[in-house]
Amino acid sequence: MEMGFSRLLFFFYPAFIQLVFAMAQPNSLYYGCGISGNFTTNSTYQSNLDRTLTSISSDTKINYGFYNDSSGQNTNKVNAIALCRGDKKPDICRSCIKNSSQGLRNLCPSQKEAIGWSDDCMLRYSNRSIFGKMEFNPQLILYNVNNVSEVTQFNQVLNPLLASLTSRAASGDSLRKFATGNATTKNNQTIYALAQCTPDLSKEQCSGCLINATGLIPQCCAGKQGARVLTPSCNFRYEIELFYDSVGEAMPPSPTPLPVPPPSPTPLPVPPPSPTPLPVPPPSPPAAPTPQTPTGKSTTGKASNRAAGAFIASVFLVLFW
Ligand SMILES: *[C@@H]1O[C@H](CO)[C@@H](O)[C@H](O)[C@H]1NC(C)=O
Ligand SMILES: *[C@@H]1O[C@H](CO)[C@@H](O)[C@H](O)[C@H]1NC(C)=O
Ligand SMILES: *[C@@H]1O[C@H](CO)[C@@H](O)[C@H](O)[C@H]1NC(C)=O
Ligand SMILES: *[C@@H]1O[C@H](CO)[C@@H](O)[C@H](O)[C@H]1NC(C)=O
Ligand SMILES: *[C@@H]1O[C@H](CO)[C@@H](O)[C@H](O)[C@H]1NC(C)=O
Ligand SMILES: *[C@@H]1O[C@H](CO)[C@@H](O)[C@H](O)[C@H]1NC(C)=O
Ligand SMILES: *[C@@H]1O[C@H](CO)[C@@H](O)[C@H](O)[C@H]1NC(C)=O
Ligand SMILES: *[C@@H]1O[C@H](CO)[C@@H](O)[C@H](O)[C@H]1NC(C)=O
Ligand SMILES: *[C@@H]1O[C@H](CO)[C@@H](O)[C@H](O)[C@H]1NC(C)=O
Repeated sequence: MEMGFSRLLFFFYPAFIQLVFAMAQPNSLYYGCGISGNFTTNSTYQSNLDRTLTSISSDTKINYGFYNDSSGQNTNKVNAIALCRGDKKPDICRSCIKNSSQGLRNLCPSQKEAIGWSDDCMLRYSNRSIFGKMEFNPQLILYNVNNVSEVTQFNQVLNPLLASLTSRAASGDSLRKFATGNATTKNNQTIYALAQCTPDLSKEQCSGCLINATGLIPQCCAGKQGARVLTPSCNFRYEIELFYDSVGEAMPPSPTPLPVPPPSPTPLPVPPPSPTPLPVPPPSPPAAPTPQTPTGKSTTGKASNRAAGAFIASVFLVLFW
């Protein structure tokens, strides 16, 4: 709470699905603590972890939103990756990573592995090597409980839009794999979407990850006005409102992979309105909704239901490691 994070919690249990019902609030940190093992207080692992997170969240040289770092050796080696949403400026990105680092260290105090997603960034760390590996689990899925009026027309526009963003994101370079776009349905409904991979992935890994992620829509989010699927390696989001900074993608990626210019010191233009401006009520109790099980591996439930537009009422579905 002290960091403005809502303390949504998913523990990771093997072959066990835990439901979390909550509203998608701005600056929420959705997180999971790994189950592979714990470190002890004041251990070398802990100091390596703290050093890595400090380093990754204070890097001012990188301006393309992807960070990887590691400290230590052998069994005490800590690897970390952070990915900011591709339209976020470096100062917002850094602040998000910093918040997530503090949040994860508090929320997963002794776990060797953890992952956290928030609106602007994803942060993960592990004692395993994670750079260049495609990982599809765990997943966080958020959707707007409001339905679109014409599902067929909507999907006829949404599916090709996401397919096109998948291929554009996958074609990105080793600094940036990010694409945004919009398309309008026959009944004049504009859909805005983004797709992103960690840029350490190959083109094939990226498109495979996004194809599988968008392939979850029928199970999780069919006919919904907005949805996000977040995995360690890729994520996408669509909404019927503009939620990204559409100039963000136009920022040319730095042509040279290594020496990067310092982040721009200019203040940001005000980002487009967040679709979540209203204060939202606390999450409904997890017991109320009846979970359905669309596949053996996932479960969904309804969190809340409100008039359209003002905020994203969401439901989570988390698939575990
Ligand atoms: C990571 O830590 C777990 C638990 O301590 C251990 O079983 C595993 O072998 C470690 N992995 C590596 C790559 O060190
Ligand atoms: C790791 O610590 C958490 C709580 O901090 C505990 O619930 C869990 O059982 C521990 N895991 C192992 C493998 O000791
Ligand atoms: C860890 O180190 C801090 C600072 O040196 C010390 O205050 C604390 O008692 C230590 N904790 C344990 C469990 O050793
Ligand atoms: C990021 O990962 C790559 C590949 O493992 C490595 O070459 C590079 O040194 C890493 N960067 C940092 C800062 O650890
Ligand atoms: C980080 O946390 C502070 C304090 O809660 C908050 O004001 C700020 O908006 C957060 N930044 C990001 C990028 O989430
Ligand atoms: C959306 O549609 C589903 C399935 O038809 C229904 O259960 C749900 O109540 C609808 N949600 C809203 C906000 O109307
Ligand atoms: C919507 O798409 C059109 C055509 O692709 C593009 O010119 C426009 O900038 C996009 N608008 C936003 C907000 O992304
Ligand atoms: C479509 O929607 C836009 C923005 O909501 C509006 O300006 C435009 O007039 C609409 N066009 C039609 C044909 O309804
Ligand atoms: C995508 O799903 C297919 C079928 O379930 C699976 O074989 C493949 O490994 C998955 N690919 C990725 C990148 O997750």
